[in-house]
Amino acid sequence: MAGLYVGLISGTSMDGIDAALVRLESSRFELIDALCVPYAPALAEHLRRVVASGSDLTIESLAQLDVALGEAFARAALTLLERTRRTPGEIVAIGSHGQTVRHRPALDPPFTLQLGDANVIAARTGITTVADFRRRDIALGGQGAPLAPVFHAAVLADPSEYRVVANIGGIANLTLLRADATLTGFDTGPGNALMDAWIRAHRGDPYDRDGAWAGSGRVIEPLLSAMLADPWLSQPPPKSTGVEHFNLRWLETHSPPVATLEPADVAATLCELTARTMVQSLREHASGCERLLVCGGGAHNGTLMRRLAALLPGVVVQSTADAGLHPDWVEASAFAWLAAQTLAGRPGNDPAVTGARRASVLGAIFPA
Ligand SMILES: Nc1ncnc2c1ncn2[C@@H]1O[C@H](COP(=O)(O)OP(=O)(O)O)[C@@H](O)[C@H]1O
Ligand SMILES: [Mg+2]
Repeated sequence: MAGLYVGLISGTSMDGIDAALVRLESSRFELIDALCVPYAPALAEHLRRVVASGSDLTIESLAQLDVALGEAFARAALTLLERTRRTPGEIVAIGSHGQTVRHRPALDPPFTLQLGDANVIAARTGITTVADFRRRDIALGGQGAPLAPVFHAAVLADPSEYRVVANIGGIANLTLLRADATLTGFDTGPGNALMDAWIRAHRGDPYDRDGAWAGSGRVIEPLLSAMLADPWLSQPPPKSTGVEHFNLRWLETHSPPVATLEPADVAATLCELTARTMVQSLREHASGCERLLVCGGGAHNGTLMRRLAALLPGVVVQSTADAGLHPDWVEASAFAWLAAQTLAGRPGNDPAVTGARRASVLGAIFPA
């Protein structure tokens, strides 16, 4: 249905909830406004513990976290409506991704788990909410991720050139927008998550602004090579991963031991790891790419952007802003767009991206 939609997501960086207000009209897409509501420090800390935890988690705490996140997502949507002077009655629907706390597409049986109770979001906002987008794709044998490529194809493709969209969130993924319109997309490995965890542990900062710290260090080649040998990285797509794989524990399994190294050099090496894994995937699966459009928080990391450009001679490396969409709001916009797909009874996944047996309408509808 044409009209205004709100998209909500918090990615694997767990930096906060992105909320985007968009207008959708048949094939037209317009981003009207967007904001990020950082998680309250206690909630962020709780989330990091849950994401890192083994079996010490109780059902009570998980269920309560689901509700608390639903409240936080609802508040983010309401804050955006207040700022844009819109009333809930003007919004067709919210598309809420929720917060991933576990993504295990390779387990048997596979699963992915996003929290942020959509019942709470619909009740607090009075807006029909579409949520739980990923599990239908998993039920059809897919990875459940990435889901944004179908949206990227709808709004960022250009039939006159071969573009790739690189979303650098906690995890990085690529969407290959070939000029002949065949679509693929997959995760390439770590995005910002390892860099964030490292600077948090060593300097107490949430992230390395502009990649300045990484830029001050020296890449440790043996550590980089050891990390690049991780078998997941050479697996062919479709594939997806999460911070349950690429985390500080994973970093510590490699040699030379990070505890013996200069922290700034490890930061440089982690930044290089993100660039190199992305470039390796591009070389293997996207030869002929003319333009790399970067979105997600990684687009603000100057060191990373410079390394991508240096490793990709002949490819124009720029932010999605240069294609008309601010890099911070691409993912939230995608879930607003996916909500509209669901309400229209149109598929949201692409089997060529996720490996699902077929395309499917995604998610569940929680009426206003
Ligand atoms: N100015 C900046 N300089 C360097 N990195 C940044 C900057 N702004 C954001 N980031 C990185 O982007 C991350 C957030 O990116 P985001 O796309 O929201 O990821 P996710 O989808 O996983 O939440 C931050 O945790 C940080 O690592
Ligand atoms: Mg984020």
